[in-house]
Parts: sequence; structure tokens; C-alpha cells
Amino acid sequence: MYKPFEIKENLFYVGVNDRIKHLFENLWPLPKGVSYNSYIIHDEKTALIDTVDICYSDVFFNKIRSVLGDKPIDYLIVNHMEPDHSGSIELLKTRYPGMKIVGNARTADMLKGYYGITDNVMVIEDKEELCLGKNTLQFYLTPMVHWPETMMTYVKESKTLFSADAFGTFGTLDGGILDSQLCPDKYWDEMVRYYSNIVGKFGSPVQAALKKLAGVGIETICSTHGPIWTETDNIGKVVSLYDKLSKYEADKGLVIAYGSMYGNVEQLAEVIAAEAAQCGIRNIVMHNVSKSHNSEIIRDIFKYKGLIIGSPTYNNKLYPGVENLVHALQNRNLKNRFFGYFGGFTWAGAAVKQLKEFSDKMEFEIINEPVEMKQSLNNDYMEQARRLAQAMAEKLNSEVEVMSVRADTSCH
Ligand code: FEO
Repeated sequence: MYKPFEIKENLFYVGVNDRIKHLFENLWPLPKGVSYNSYIIHDEKTALIDTVDICYSDVFFNKIRSVLGDKPIDYLIVNHMEPDHSGSIELLKTRYPGMKIVGNARTADMLKGYYGITDNVMVIEDKEELCLGKNTLQFYLTPMVHWPETMMTYVKESKTLFSADAFGTFGTLDGGILDSQLCPDKYWDEMVRYYSNIVGKFGSPVQAALKKLAGVGIETICSTHGPIWTETDNIGKVVSLYDKLSKYEADKGLVIAYGSMYGNVEQLAEVIAAEAAQCGIRNIVMHNVSKSHNSEIIRDIFKYKGLIIGSPTYNNKLYPGVENLVHALQNRNLKNRFFGYFGGFTWAGAAVKQLKEFSDKMEFEIINEPVEMKQSLNNDYMEQARRLAQAMAEKLNSEVEVMSVRADTSCH
């Protein structure tokens, strides 16, 4: 029998770790695994909040029994219907047939479509409340964080927010479950990779959700993935990280992402990086698109304000890896970047022209002229590359100076 883990009085963790799957959504690598979090509130009425991926339903049901014994589940709260959280609902219903499934109108539509469930579904409205005894649940509809039915559940008495995917991260819970039991540092990069790849397209809905929750006192955040946030500093950090990322704000730094077949475009990238470093830029990340996974490149592009993309011309188009990357950035509505670009060709250039078309569609500030190299590097191309790097560095350095002046002003 599992030993129940009590987060706080009458609130238990019954989630699981996935160290088997290689790809989340069959797309995103999971080098550190992922957890699917689920919770039980054991009150006069019992409530289970979200379920887990169906592959782990046996472990999940045993954990539920370790908390409830033979008691029934009165309510299943469905904050999010993506199958990593809803996958066990149908099986759960066979074990707990009297359980009411609580969600909004969109949840009900998906319950019917995915699992054929139409009975015992309780449809709630935004801000509606449900009393379990000592715990009062209040539901906040937060559409598109990450699907249209997504909502959050808040326990008024204990100031606990069950936030669905929001404030979640890749990475299993290796022993510790609460932030106070583990070292949170290993999760920050994975939180940005999770946000930028999974939720990154939905900056405006995330902003709307943060505004809706602005006046709500939060002492514990129970996300569907990763640690439970209980420490004030960590709660502040995850909320401000979501605020910053959803506004497409970024730190001082430069990502140079390039494709290169035989190393010529790569050498141009090296010249740009070396010159940017000479000009004082410390956070420089170079990604060869044929080697780095797109999820890592996208993560770093969400982190840093400067972006330079380079591509050879390939079949009169962008290099395929670069094409994938720019498409992914367009799909995520990335904004608010300083952008430079460069490319190479052998007999007819198309890459630079297409990178210009990409930048015209985005709300980027274009830095300097692009560098378009025919065949291989020479002194002239090197000089153009250095000018691009210098202009980018000047922009990044001056923006930080402006921010310092603002900070000084606010202190007086
Ligand atoms: Fe963790 Fe959007 O599912």
C-alpha cells in the first residue's frame, strides 16, 4: 500500500511520474521525464482533481485507494481535457460510477467526444462555487491556457490554486513533491521549454488568466506537471516568469540559429557570435538547427531578446531545419525581438529573401542589413557579419541601459 502524501490538511498528492515516454505529445523530448499530477481533497465530500495518462492508471488507482480506502469519490474536477490528464477518466468512472464529473460547457463537449460520457456531468460557470465541507472550490475559466476548456480551481479557505498546465514544467518528481523538498533550480529551464513549446502560442489568453487571478491570494500552486509551489519566493518567480513569457519579454542575450550543409554558413555564424561577444554580449547561444531539437531553440529564443537566423538556400527555399524553425516561431506569434539574418547560396540566392519575408510578418525590429554570402566566406562577408553583430550588440546593450535608468528613476 502506498503511503499517502499529504500536502496540507486533507489535501493529498496522487500523481505519477513518467520516465518511459520519449516524446511529450509525440513531439517534445523528455530527457528528464514528466509528472502527471492529480490531487484528492478529503473532506465531507471527496474531490479528485484531474487524472493521469492512461498508461499509469493502475498506479494511480492504487494511490487513490491509499487515501480513500473504500470511500467513494464524490466529484472529479476536470481542469483540462488533454489526454495526459483526462486519459484515466473512463476507467475511473467504471470504478466510481456515482462520481459527478465537474467541468464547463466545453469540458462536457470533450467528455462526450473523447469518452462517450454524458451522464453525471455537472456543468459549472465561471466563478461558480462548490462546497465540499470545510473546503469551498471556486472555478475560474481560463480558456486557451492551454485548450479552450481549460479552467483552474481555487480553494478559498486554504488559498490553494489548482492551475492545470499553467506554472507546470517538464521533469519528474524525484522523491520530493513540494518545492521545499527539492532543488527547484533543475526545473527553471524545463519550465521555459514547456511554456514556449506547449503554451507559447497563447500569450494573450495567459495574460487574461493572470489578470483574472490578480486579486486572488495564492499560498500554494498545484499544477498538473512538476513541483507543487508552496514557498513565497517560488510562487512569485513562477507567476512573474509566466507574466514575462506571455508578454514575449526577454532577457539580454542573443540566439544565433543557423542551418549549414558544408560549414560555410556556420563560419559566418561563428564570426557574428565572436564579434557579439567582443561587444560585451555574454549570453550567446548558438544552435545548429540540424543538431539542436527545435524545442531547445524555441526555449532559448523565448529567453533572449536578440535573434539572428542564418540559412543556406536549398532547392530555392530556406534550409529545411530553418524553415521548420521560422514556421514554429510564426505559429507561436513570437514578438518583441531584435532580429538579424544572413544566408548563403551557390548559384541563386533565395534564403535571405525568404528570411526577410518572415521578418516582415513578425513584430520584430530589424537590425542592420542582412549578410548574403555567395559560396564561401571572404573578408568582405566577414566585415558585413561583424557590422551585423555590432549593431545587434549595440541595441542589446542600449536597451539594458535604458532599463537601468528607468529602475534608477523609480527609486527616487
Ligand atoms: Fe498537460 Fe495541455 O496538457
